[in-house]
Amino acid sequence: MHDKKTIEDINVSGKKVLVRCDFNVPLEDGRITDDNRIVGALPTIKYLLGQKAKIILCSHMGRPKGEFNMKYTLAPVAKRLSELLNTTVTLAADVIGDDAVAKATALKEGEILLLENVRFHKEEEKNDAEFSKKLASLAEIYVNDAFGTAHRAHASTAGVADYMPAVCGYLIQKEIDIMGKALSEPKRPFVAILGGAKVSDKIGVINNLIEKVDSLIIGGAMAYTFDKALGGKIGKSLCEIDKLDMAKELLEKAENKGVKFLLPVDTICAKEFANDTEQAVFPTQQIPEEWMGLDIGPETIKLFSEELKNAGTVVWNGPMGVFEFDNFAKGTKAVAEAVAASGAISIIGGGDSAAAVEKFGLADKITHISTGGGASLEFLEGLVLPGIACLNDK
Ligand code: 3PG
Repeated sequence: MHDKKTIEDINVSGKKVLVRCDFNVPLEDGRITDDNRIVGALPTIKYLLGQKAKIILCSHMGRPKGEFNMKYTLAPVAKRLSELLNTTVTLAADVIGDDAVAKATALKEGEILLLENVRFHKEEEKNDAEFSKKLASLAEIYVNDAFGTAHRAHASTAGVADYMPAVCGYLIQKEIDIMGKALSEPKRPFVAILGGAKVSDKIGVINNLIEKVDSLIIGGAMAYTFDKALGGKIGKSLCEIDKLDMAKELLEKAENKGVKFLLPVDTICAKEFANDTEQAVFPTQQIPEEWMGLDIGPETIKLFSEELKNAGTVVWNGPMGVFEFDNFAKGTKAVAEAVAASGAISIIGGGDSAAAVEKFGLADKITHISTGGGASLEFLEGLVLPGIACLNDK
């Protein structure tokens, strides 16, 4: 990727700046349950405040399918931002409508306006040129700081960059610096941990990481597809039958590259998908018919923890088991603890593994927790992210 211009490479003082953030935060009864993405946007907003820019923030929230639906309003975000910045953040009633235009026009230096959810317009996800132009006409400079949405080629994440100078904010800069460095010049040994339900979601990442890592640790339900491909018995465990050949190819590729490929050696199983249910531990590949694997077993925890002890760099994406069930969270917790204790440069791809590290109170022991789930996965896959590609080169 070319070096992209940053917010410091352009004169923003007194200018109207449109900043795309990823304020797509989890909500429960209208209450924000995790504000990491809002906190992540603060350095850029504070810099712009310091430069006396006229700040117009925009973001999506959820998937409202192109209609104004106040279930997905950014009002809770405006409130939280005001609290965090200790200043007024005005919420426009629309995105490119009369209210947004009037408020953007009246904006004074050092003031902050938040537009309503950009996905209230179907043109946003279609990356519609007219919509992008309208949105762009509110400002003079575009800053993309929405790392979590950088893998989407939408109007507010990419299209607007066609109509004004476009640079990246501090969050995107930090994400690509840290993850990019881990991939291009990792402190070795470089260990990747991949988990989650499906191999199909991670094929690209495994393929790319096999070229770079010294060891690859596989946990979560996707391990059963590898076990089945190796001829093992996996009972009722999740398995992608159509990915068995792919799993074999990945195992072969790892062997040819001299990459250590660690699969679980034992598995905590249950007969039903529930938290409060009978458990039993079986050697992996010998799971009886009526049982399904829901977490890695104690021997596997030892094996994985041992591998992580000497790591120089660790990249982790995806839980080791059904960690939402407390009774099947041991494996994910133990791996989180091993990563935290390793002293390695540790990077957690967003989504479930980030939630797990937060849940176990280990977030402050991790070098970098990405604010992007899908985006960090695509970055680790080596793909070009449209929200970054559209920005001006240095
Ligand atoms: C995310 O939460 O991964 C981002 O905000 C992107 O959301 P999306 O998957 O709805 O595009």
